[in-house]
Amino acid sequence: MGLMHMKNPANSRKKPSKGGLFFFLAGLIPSLIIGWVIYPMVLYSKQAQPINFSHSIHMNPEIVDGIEGDTEIEKCLYCHEFREDGTFAGIPKLAKCTECHDDPDSALGESEEEKKFLSKYVANEKEIPWYSYYRQPDCVYFSHIAHVKMGEINCKTCHGDHGKTDKLPVYQANRLTGYSINIWGRNIAGYKTNTWDRMKMDDCAECHTLKEKEGNNACFVCHK
Ligand code: HEC
Ligand code: HEC
Ligand code: HEC
Ligand code: HEC
Ligand code: HEC
Repeated sequence: MGLMHMKNPANSRKKPSKGGLFFFLAGLIPSLIIGWVIYPMVLYSKQAQPINFSHSIHMNPEIVDGIEGDTEIEKCLYCHEFREDGTFAGIPKLAKCTECHDDPDSALGESEEEKKFLSKYVANEKEIPWYSYYRQPDCVYFSHIAHVKMGEINCKTCHGDHGKTDKLPVYQANRLTGYSINIWGRNIAGYKTNTWDRMKMDDCAECHTLKEKEGNNACFVCHK
């Protein structure tokens, strides 16, 4: 057998068939749909908030008079206040609301949402059981005054536009980890485009490094 008769292995390889591509896509597309659409839908449990609350209505001085403060952040702090000892009040209690919504029998506006709020909570002096989108597990130590006052960081950096919203999003918790989607992140591939897209351990540490506060990246600083 001479060399001439040897088949060139490159020429003998079959051209990829269109059928192969078809089966490749037929497998790929459903798995993308399952991975990117169905899986995140199943992974998160969904819970509607007890009532709607519009930040945009309450922050608009032409509609709601009496939210005091010279700057936007001071207005936020009118409801989300720092107590005398520097601790953060978090989501306001009913007593803050009844400074204005003081009579369950006379609504301040026309909305159905306010009537529901008055009859269910104000009339019964019952606290609203809000789901907290941002609350961290108990093992995490976080101080608002250190970040907002000392660090001079805006609410938006960590909470996005929540303070401007009109309709509350459904509360979504990861079934495997128990974390709210606002902490775990919406993007399952892990990309982050905004500082507020996610607030996991690495996201806290990333900002500390950026702001040259690496000293706060020792375990005991965030886990007391
Ligand atoms: C400074 C006064 C003031 C405070 C404090 C206040 N509200 Fe209101 N709120 C208003 C007024 C005025 C309206 C009516 C707006 C309209 O419909 O014209 C309103 C409307 C509403 C509505 C209907 C519109 C919406 O947000 O969907 C709800 C619900 C409501 N308030 C809940 C609350 C809750 C809960 C609190 C406490 C965290 C609170 N309000 C604190 C003045 C206030
Ligand atoms: C009239 C009182 C009031 C004012 C003023 C107010 N908030 Fe709120 N805020 C609430 C209430 C009630 C809730 C609970 C319902 C909800 O999630 O929106 C809340 C919830 C939040 C949450 C979600 C916390 C969580 O873990 O679920 C953020 C973030 C927030 N507010 C930011 C802001 C910012 C930023 C501003 C100023 C731009 C602001 N708020 C002004 C009453 C107020
Ligand atoms: C550096 C990031 C950061 C900044 C800036 C920040 N927050 Fe937060 N916020 C957090 C974290 C983290 C939590 C969860 C704290 C926890 O669970 O102990 C939180 C929780 C909250 C909650 C819910 C508290 C609860 O008990 O459920 C509210 C309301 C809130 N923030 C409002 C604000 C407002 C208003 C501002 C601006 C004045 C602000 N935050 C600024 C990171 C931040
Ligand atoms: C956007 C930037 C930013 C993010 C996000 C951030 N931090 Fe910080 N953090 C700071 C800065 C700046 C300081 C220093 C404040 C100062 O003392 O001037 C600080 C200080 C601290 C301190 C020390 C101050 C104290 O109260 O003892 C702790 C603890 C801390 N951060 C925890 C956290 C945790 C937990 C998270 C995430 C849930 C977080 N931080 C997210 C910027 C950030
Ligand atoms: C800058 C703040 C910060 C520092 C520093 C930090 N952590 Fe965390 N840690 C967090 C936050 C916020 C969470 C909750 C979110 C998450 O799981 O990413 C967390 C969650 C955890 C959890 C999971 C707890 C649970 O209930 O799921 C463990 C374990 C943990 N941290 C251990 C450590 C160890 C060990 C170190 C030191 C190497 C450390 N952390 C340093 C902020 C911090």
